[in-house]
Amino acid sequence: RKRLTIAGLKKMKQEHKRISMLTAYDYPSAKLAEEAGIDLILVGDSLGNVVLGYDTTIPVTLEDMIYHTRAVARAAKDTFIVTDMPFMTYGIGRETTLRNAARLMQEGGAQALKLEGGKDIAAEVSALVRAGIPVMGHIGLTPQSVHQLSGYKIQKEAQKLIEDAKALEEAGAFAVVVELVTEPISAAITKELSIPVIGIGAGRECDGQVLVFHDILKYSSPYYDKKFVKTYADIGTTIRDAISSYVSDVKNETFPAEENVFGAVTSGTDTVGS
Ligand code: KIV
Ligand code: NA
Repeated sequence: RKRLTIAGLKKMKQEHKRISMLTAYDYPSAKLAEEAGIDLILVGDSLGNVVLGYDTTIPVTLEDMIYHTRAVARAAKDTFIVTDMPFMTYGIGRETTLRNAARLMQEGGAQALKLEGGKDIAAEVSALVRAGIPVMGHIGLTPQSVHQLSGYKIQKEAQKLIEDAKALEEAGAFAVVVELVTEPISAAITKELSIPVIGIGAGRECDGQVLVFHDILKYSSPYYDKKFVKTYADIGTTIRDAISSYVSDVKNETFPAEENVFGAVTSGTDTVGS
C-alpha cells in the first residue's frame, strides 16, 4: 500500500470517503495500526496520559514527542504520521515554533504536525506551511488549555469554533481535528471547510474520526468509558490475566517446563532457537 498524501486526504473528503485515524506511540502499536489499514497515525501528546501517566498533556516535552515519533516512524513506513506539538513549543513566536517543528520533522520523522488553537495561532500555522510543513489544526476542547477551559467540557460556542476553523483553513492547514463539540457544530464546520474535519467526541458528520489507541482497546486507559469512545477489545484484561498466569506458573514451578530448558548440550551451536 502507498502512504496517503494531503492531496489524497482532500480527495477523500470530496468523494465522501471517511478518514480513519488512531493514535500510536511506539513500534508495536504503530505496526498493528498500519497492518489494520488505518489511514492516519497520530502520535498524540495524549501519550502523556496513557503512556507516561501524567494527569494532563501539559508536562509532555518536545523530547518525549521526538522519542515516540521515531519509534512510530520505524514501524509505520507506509502510513501518514501526524505528531502533536506539545504545550508551549509553539504559539511563542515564529522562530521558536519553526525550530521546534523542524526537530519533530527531522529527528522524529513525522509527515505533518498538529497544533491546538484557532485564530490565535493562525499566523504561526501559516509560517509553518510556508516553510513546507503540513499542519493539522485542533479546535474545540484543546487539552493543553484544560485549566483555562476549566476542565474537559463540551465546547458549544458555535460562532467562535467556525471562525477558528476557517482561520486555520485560510492559514493553510490541510485538516482540522474538532474535539468534544456538539454534532450540529461539527456538522457546520465540516460543511463550511474544504479541508477534512476529523472528529473526536464530535458526532457523525465529520469527514473522519480519531480515537486514542489505549481507549478503544481498554488498555489500562482511564478514559475508555467516555461516551464518545467505543471499546473494540479488552486488551487490559487479556494482558493482566496472562501476566497473572505467568506469576502462578513461576510460583507453582510449572514454568519453565521441560521444553523451555537447555539440557546438557553435548554438541552443536548455542543458538537460542524455538
Ligand atoms: O493527543 C491526542 O491523542 C489527540 C487526539 C485525541 C485528537 O490530540
Ligand atoms: Na493531542
